[in-house]
Amino acid sequence: MKQVKLMTGNSNPQLARAVSGNLGIPLADVTVGRFSDGEVQVVINESVRDCDVYIIQSLCHPANENIMELLLIADALKRASAGRITAVIPYYAYGRQDRKVNPRDPISAKLLADIITISGINHLVVIDLNARQVEGFFGIPVDHLQARPVLTEYFLSEGLGGEDTVVVSPDIGGVTRARNFARVLGSPIAIIDKRRPRPNVAEVMNIIGEVKGKKAIIIDDIIDTAGTIVNAARAIKEKGAEEVYAACTHPVFSGPAVDRLSKAVEEGVIKEIIVTDTIPLREKFEGVKVLTVAGMIAEAIRRIHFGESISRMFNF
Ligand code: R5P
Repeated sequence: MKQVKLMTGNSNPQLARAVSGNLGIPLADVTVGRFSDGEVQVVINESVRDCDVYIIQSLCHPANENIMELLLIADALKRASAGRITAVIPYYAYGRQDRKVNPRDPISAKLLADIITISGINHLVVIDLNARQVEGFFGIPVDHLQARPVLTEYFLSEGLGGEDTVVVSPDIGGVTRARNFARVLGSPIAIIDKRRPRPNVAEVMNIIGEVKGKKAIIIDDIIDTAGTIVNAARAIKEKGAEEVYAACTHPVFSGPAVDRLSKAVEEGVIKEIIVTDTIPLREKFEGVKVLTVAGMIAEAIRRIHFGESISRMFNF
């Protein structure tokens, strides 16, 4: 059996350390720094020959820097005769740019997939891609993990679920995610009819389903500027929801996100914001709770190494 090596760049060292702790395997001695001119410098200080290597690197802010770190670590591993190189990418950048919305748009998610594929990476582990079809952009195997068990377990432990709770999808694209979430909680769903007049601007048109008197959990894959989730929370609260929880896998939290979310918590519109640690929070604020996906990633690595099923982790 090949030896397992875990390594990371600078994107989310806390998560990488937590995965390493879960597996009881130390992070390999790798230095990922910068040359004087800002170019990425990678030095692998131990042999990786024939090893089963896992690079844990989230492609969060600063995305372009973190992407380059991942690619150069992979290239260094390939040239050092690593056995198999698996990139564990908790947050996949550019994932929302998966089609041409306007003429002459790039398809950035596809280009990034092509670059990753030729970098030497043989296998990919991702969590909650914005669109499942992005898996098909890669010419290598992709294991697609879901944060759903981590999030639903939290809500169940807080006593939510059943008919008094409603799971809300903040847009039509998230209905399957909300339905799967609701199935675990034994709750009904509601759907927000969202419109985007311009990029990064979200407007609520209608709410489909009953939210009055219920505890509402809005579930999304990403909170970016927080326009989608805060507008959804306000609309649901106006329709008589008793409490509103905002949950997502990837807390991108760019631009006005923290202000919007803090204000919504302060005003009592949102009771709690529940996110995972696929992206480290740049700023902690009142009302936000971070759940870890480290245990899930560690289990996926263990299963990949021993050739066991990943899909069984999500069969419930
Ligand atoms: C859209 O497809 C995603 O699922 C999220 O709803 C969106 O990225 C959230 O963006 P924002 O927080 O900027 O409204």
